[in-house]
Amino acid sequence: KQKFDLVIAANRLPVDRVVDADGEVSWRTSPGGLVTAMESVMRGREGAWVGWAGEAGEAPQPFEQDDMFLNPVALSEDEVAHYYEGFSNDTLWPIYHDVIVPATFHRFWFGAYEAVNRRFAEAVCAVAAKGATVWVHDYQLQLVPAMVREMRPDVRIGWFNHIPFPPVELFAQLPWRRAILEGLLGADYLGFQRVADAQNFIRACRQLLSLPTKGDTVSESRSEGARRIRASAVPISIDFKGLEELARRPETQARAKEIRASLGDPETLILGVDRLDYTKGIGHRIKAYGELLAEDRVAPPRQMFVQVATPSRERVDAYRDLRTEIEGEVGRLNGEFSSIGAPAVQYLHHSYPRDEMAALYLAADVLLVTPLRDGMNLVAKEYVTCRYDNGGALVLSEFTGAYHELHQAFVCNPHDIEGLKQTIMRAIETPAKEKARLMRAMRRRVADHDVQHWAARFLDNLANAPERGGV
Ligand code: G6P
Repeated sequence: KQKFDLVIAANRLPVDRVVDADGEVSWRTSPGGLVTAMESVMRGREGAWVGWAGEAGEAPQPFEQDDMFLNPVALSEDEVAHYYEGFSNDTLWPIYHDVIVPATFHRFWFGAYEAVNRRFAEAVCAVAAKGATVWVHDYQLQLVPAMVREMRPDVRIGWFNHIPFPPVELFAQLPWRRAILEGLLGADYLGFQRVADAQNFIRACRQLLSLPTKGDTVSESRSEGARRIRASAVPISIDFKGLEELARRPETQARAKEIRASLGDPETLILGVDRLDYTKGIGHRIKAYGELLAEDRVAPPRQMFVQVATPSRERVDAYRDLRTEIEGEVGRLNGEFSSIGAPAVQYLHHSYPRDEMAALYLAADVLLVTPLRDGMNLVAKEYVTCRYDNGGALVLSEFTGAYHELHQAFVCNPHDIEGLKQTIMRAIETPAKEKARLMRAMRRRVADHDVQHWAARFLDNLANAPERGGV
């Protein structure tokens, strides 16, 4: 059996299954930023990735892909329903996003969550070399750190939360709040998107577990001696170089022109790009835009609005309800404000490859990022990265992690519809020269704090975490 110095555990493996014309199955590395980051930190060391291949039933055999060893974890149909759709996305997701929709609680969902977390922990231990570094990702795997710690006291364990960590008043609703905190405290280091997220975690440990805390550390008394666990902010980013290079390609620029031309070369192209998720504030954005249309402050074909809504978690009720609501609103606006050849809102319920997204970003004069709560929002960083021409304007909600880094955005509170309308108008009307100044500053920030920088910082914090056994 092969063993590795660095083991990543994330709910999803970084690959997509492709079936060719002969029915032959192969795997293609998915283009996510996380993979790029991992490639950069795995250079020169042996790395393995433990995750789910995305379909219920038997898992594929472990295999190698792009110099990385992939160790797939199987999920049964029931586990997909209870661990993934249920506990992860219908209990934790709403609680961790300010209860924008109510959370659903089922004891048997938590049972499945525990069982699957144990399977991940076992799969990690099976491939971790002695003294390896184990990096666990996100809310789906919060019990894994303590489970790995118990099985393998020799390894160093870090966990990074890609989504917000809720205020203790909301976290306390979880009947399994103790188990989750204790699961996380199995790690040596915990990384969060914002300082506020790390502080929320530390406060939860103090108030719900009565553990002593000091600054960014929690002390935990255990039989083998006291441990200190550090929790701090290391905001995630994207592969700036790789994405900018894609945006600069002549094909991408040509496609951007073509997109604008096919929309009738509008004065202003306004864009929204989101997973179809209730955290993204898509309804608030459409309401604000609808009022601007009604007041004739924007009108097609002069202003064209394109909303890409990537299908997501379609078997979870709240996501079905959201789709019905958004599509109803888009239909109403189109019925009222479109004319032939000039729809008020172009709504696309698809996911697009990276090159098409880069072209869309390049084509868009204004990008609307209006979440009610979002751990980071990488779409905002992708847009800024693609604008090597310093064109475009970013409208950004203050309830995103990105807001804490992209200070030159047109900031909005999506709950304040009147304010959001004004911000959208400002983003449209601010002179190009001023917008270029703002864009340049935001680009510098993302260039200096890219995903490689993030991964290196996280691993550095993990390597320098307080020693176990010492206080
Ligand atoms: C968020 C989460 C990720 C998740 C992604 C897509 O970004 O932080 O863990 O993979 O959404 O959601 P899905 O449920 O399709 O994996």
